[in-house]
Amino acid sequence: MNATATSTTRDLLGLQGMDAGTLRAILGPALEAERDRAALGRPLEEGMVVNLFFEDSTRTRTSFTIAAQALGAHVFQFVDQRSSMSKGETLIDTARTIEAMGVGALVVRHGSAGAVQQLAEHVGVPVINAGDGAHEHPTQGLLDILTLAEAHDRLDGFDLSGLRVAIVGDLLHSRVARSAIAGMTTLGAEVVCVGPEAMCPGGVSALGCDVERDLDAVIGEVDAAMALRVQFERGSALGGAEAAHTARYGLTSERASRMKPGAIVMHPGPMNRGLEIESGVADGPRSVVLRQVALGVPVRMSALAWCLGADSGGR
Ligand code: CP
Repeated sequence: MNATATSTTRDLLGLQGMDAGTLRAILGPALEAERDRAALGRPLEEGMVVNLFFEDSTRTRTSFTIAAQALGAHVFQFVDQRSSMSKGETLIDTARTIEAMGVGALVVRHGSAGAVQQLAEHVGVPVINAGDGAHEHPTQGLLDILTLAEAHDRLDGFDLSGLRVAIVGDLLHSRVARSAIAGMTTLGAEVVCVGPEAMCPGGVSALGCDVERDLDAVIGEVDAAMALRVQFERGSALGGAEAAHTARYGLTSERASRMKPGAIVMHPGPMNRGLEIESGVADGPRSVVLRQVALGVPVRMSALAWCLGADSGGR
């Protein structure tokens, strides 16, 4: 495992601008690892991956840990509340300090859009963006693509053409949506974003999707509907109109009953049950929510291998 970046190592900062060949170069080995957890070998044997998370996480941090260990690496969990950042040390100095200890890769989550890229510009080891503000969450986008492709029998080449996906709710604050829109449309899917103007401004269409205000106008036509969490911690406010939000934009049992045969319901998690998605839908027959979680492990194995130049196409 490389301790410094070389011509065979790369950062994974986002899916916007990533071409279809590169998406497939990560998704292909992810699928291999899903079918056989040993398929990628142990290319990170005895190396060190550091999870540098400045925001809370259950799915992403845990699955990166499992993924790195499956590839043979040791994993260290950096806990910012107990670090010397409390004494004024900067993000960049913190990252460079950890890098100097001989780590092989940094997996970074930060509350500010662009912070992970900035950090990546100041360290020599590969950096994987585990979510930066409302900007990008590339490995979530990749696992969402793999889930969609699996559900609709598109694993051969990950060609998503002809599939229509609705992404519903709090687009404004969603890094998940930005990564998913980029990756899914590059592989041929059509994406329609659905929500109120305050959460889904018309400018979202610049990401390459349609914008629709009426969920009922599209729910019967899509192959997948992904509900997004209302991100109260980033300033989204419903002002007591939670029931009205659910009535207009919630994935309810009634709406799920009107979806096409085979259409799936997705949610990146964590869920606000009863708000953007009813429990009966989250746990119902169309739901692939836990499949998304499960596929996060092989996707992150493949992402780590790709970043460390350990994938078959990386040299
Ligand atoms: N989907 C996602 O990023 O979940 P966590 O915040 O739990 O990692």
